[in-house]
Amino acid sequence: MSDIAWAAQLLRNGKLVAFPTETVYGLGADATRSEAVQKIFAAKGRPPTNPLIAHVANADIARRYCTVWPEEARRLAQRFWPGPLTIVLPKSPDIANEVSAGKSTVGLRVPNHPVALRLLEAFDGPVAAPSANRSNHVSPTTAVHVQQELGDRVDLILDGGPCDVGIESTVLDLSLPIPKILRPGGVTREHIEAIIGPVDLFSGAVSTTTAAASPGQHARHYSPATPAFRFGKHERAPVMSRSKTQRAAYMVFDSGNYPATVIIMPQEPSQYAHDLYARLRELDARKLDAIYIEMPPDEPKWLAVRDRLIRATEILPR
Ligand code: TXA
Ligand code: MG
Repeated sequence: MSDIAWAAQLLRNGKLVAFPTETVYGLGADATRSEAVQKIFAAKGRPPTNPLIAHVANADIARRYCTVWPEEARRLAQRFWPGPLTIVLPKSPDIANEVSAGKSTVGLRVPNHPVALRLLEAFDGPVAAPSANRSNHVSPTTAVHVQQELGDRVDLILDGGPCDVGIESTVLDLSLPIPKILRPGGVTREHIEAIIGPVDLFSGAVSTTTAAASPGQHARHYSPATPAFRFGKHERAPVMSRSKTQRAAYMVFDSGNYPATVIIMPQEPSQYAHDLYARLRELDARKLDAIYIEMPPDEPKWLAVRDRLIRATEILPR
């Protein structure tokens, strides 16, 4: 039996299978079976109030798991699937209530990764899959990360190499009168608006200085175990003086005279996103006193990266 056939069989038996997608690795279970989906929440330590994304092989299958399929969904699916866009629509009763955390909607996505697509085709149904990390930790972008996060809690890990995009999909709620981006991600607001016109943006996670908040999510999320702080370019001096007495590391945009480990991050948003979680894990593994992260500029193209950084860090204490 091939790895894929075996993985599909495990899913049919109500087991957990971790698999690669283009964004991050997912922790999958049969989305139509409550007892299988409950295992995801247990393995991650995830609060039952946070809904899961149902992954499917194509748009025709997605349509079966929602009760309406608006023109906007058709156009977005045609343009961005397979790809890093999750579309929230009223759910069909076939999706287990645990997937939607008791809401009446379901998030649907067709991932753009050959291993994920082969698995979804072989399984021939919806696979509920959050990122394959313990709740609130940094999402995994390699199979080794999944092993480190979940170990024996998962029945099989499919290795598809490092993820291309590196941060999670954009979540777009199409069940509202005006579509709303609930989580910025690989597909930008500009990409979406070019296809369906104006959308709202959930506004909790866009400022450097205020803490983030989002429906069903805790402000701190996607975060390393090491205390991590964000700072703006103008705050370099206070960062330096704080870090003198610490074992610290910096994630910044240009070298400069830092007293400790420095990681120079890419100046281009998609490259930065690709590297971000792996870099956070590397630094976390060093058991430092603190990680200091220079924020990218407050510009639309950096929205998704800034959202993740704001959730991963705290404001520099004054
Ligand atoms: O890229 C991704 O989206 C990855 C890969 C594995 O596909 N998955 C992922 O899942 O990031 P997770 O569970 O870590 O994040 C799912 C997000 C959460 O913010 C959740 O609140 C939101 O999607 N979500 C899921 N279903 C929803 C629904 N019905 N209504 C509103 N938000 C929903
Ligand atoms: Mg996650």
